[in-house]
Amino acid sequence: MENKVVGSIKDFDEYQGHKIQKLSLTNQNGVTLSLLTLGATIYEINIPSETGVQNIVLNYYHSKDYLANPYYVCMAIGRTAGRIKNGNIILAGQSIQLPQNEGKTNLHGGTNGFNSQIWQGKIIQIAGNDVIEMSHLQEGDGYPGKMRIKILYSLSADDVIEIKFCAISTADTLFNPTQHIYFNLGKNDTVKEHLLKINAKQIQKLDSNKIPLADRVTVADTPFDFRQPTSLDKAIAAMNDTAEKGFDDIFAVEPDKDNLVAVLSDPLSKISVAIESARNGLVVFTANSFTQQNMNFVRTNGIGKRYEGIALEPQTLAPSKGDGLFSAIKLAKGEEKTYTIKYHLNYER
Ligand code: GAL
Repeated sequence: MENKVVGSIKDFDEYQGHKIQKLSLTNQNGVTLSLLTLGATIYEINIPSETGVQNIVLNYYHSKDYLANPYYVCMAIGRTAGRIKNGNIILAGQSIQLPQNEGKTNLHGGTNGFNSQIWQGKIIQIAGNDVIEMSHLQEGDGYPGKMRIKILYSLSADDVIEIKFCAISTADTLFNPTQHIYFNLGKNDTVKEHLLKINAKQIQKLDSNKIPLADRVTVADTPFDFRQPTSLDKAIAAMNDTAEKGFDDIFAVEPDKDNLVAVLSDPLSKISVAIESARNGLVVFTANSFTQQNMNFVRTNGIGKRYEGIALEPQTLAPSKGDGLFSAIKLAKGEEKTYTIKYHLNYER
C-alpha cells in the first residue's frame, strides 16, 4: 500500500542538557502535525491556506518556554488531568498524599507530571502509515505504581488527528490523561471571533479553589450554554463580572452519536475543529490569566495575550450519581487502559 502519511524526526533544541526532538507527520493534503519530546507536546498543527501554511495551535520559540509558566501549553497531561483536593487520594482504602503543586491542590498530575518528562519519540508504522509514538516510564511523581505509558499520535488522509493514551501500571493507580491543546484557528491575537459548540447541558460546580463538587448546574439561560454555536466574544463578555473574566470550567459533556463533544470554528479563517471523545468531561479554559511575561509565543512575537487561545481538554469526571472520581479513573495493577481523543480538522481547500 502506498504510504500517504510521512513522518520525520529532527533535533529541536536542548532542555537542561537534554536533546529535545521534533517529530512530524505530513499527509497528502499538506497538513502537518508535529510534537516535541519535552512533555509530549503538540508543537504545530499546520493547515494549508491560500497565504501559506497556518499553525492553529499556540507554540513557543524554545523548549524551556513550555515550563516557564503554569499553562501547560499543548502538553500531554497525566497521570490525572484537573484538580485533586489537598492532593489526597484514597486507593484500596489507603490514603495517599500526592504532590501539591497549586497551593494544596494537585493539578495536572503534580510536580513531575507527564508534561515535565522527556519522552522517547519514534516514528512507527501502522497500516502502512507513519505514526508518532511517545513512550515513557512514569515514576517518582508520588502516585502508586510504575506506569508504562505510550501515546500514539496519528494523522489520517482525511485530516483527523488521533491521540491514543495507553497505560499499564505495576500497582493500582489513577489514570485520567488529556492533551492540553490551545487552539487559535485564525490570524487574530485572540480567539474572540471564534464560535464554540459544546454538547453539554450541565457544568460541574466548583469550590473556591476550583475543585469540582458533586453538584452540577444546568447551562440553560447562563453564559455556559454552548449547545448551539456561540460567539466567544459574547460569552466572554457575559463573564465580565466574574473574577476570571472568562471560562475555566468543567462541562459535563454528552457525546453525540459520532462521539463528538465540541466544535470550535473560526468564521474568518473558515477553519474548524470537531473534538471526538467518549469521556464525560471537557474543561474549557479561555486563557483568561495569560500575561505578557514568560509566554514566549511565536504567534505574538514573544508575549502572551489574554484570550490568545482556547484549551478544550477532554477527560473523565466523576459520574453524577454513584461512585466518586477515584473509582471512575482507577487503573488496576496489570490492567491495560486506552483513552482516545480525535480532532477532525476542516478547512477550505
Ligand atoms: C486548566 C485549568 C486552569 C489552568 C489551565 C492551565 O485545566 O482548569 O485553571 O490551570 O489548565 O493550562
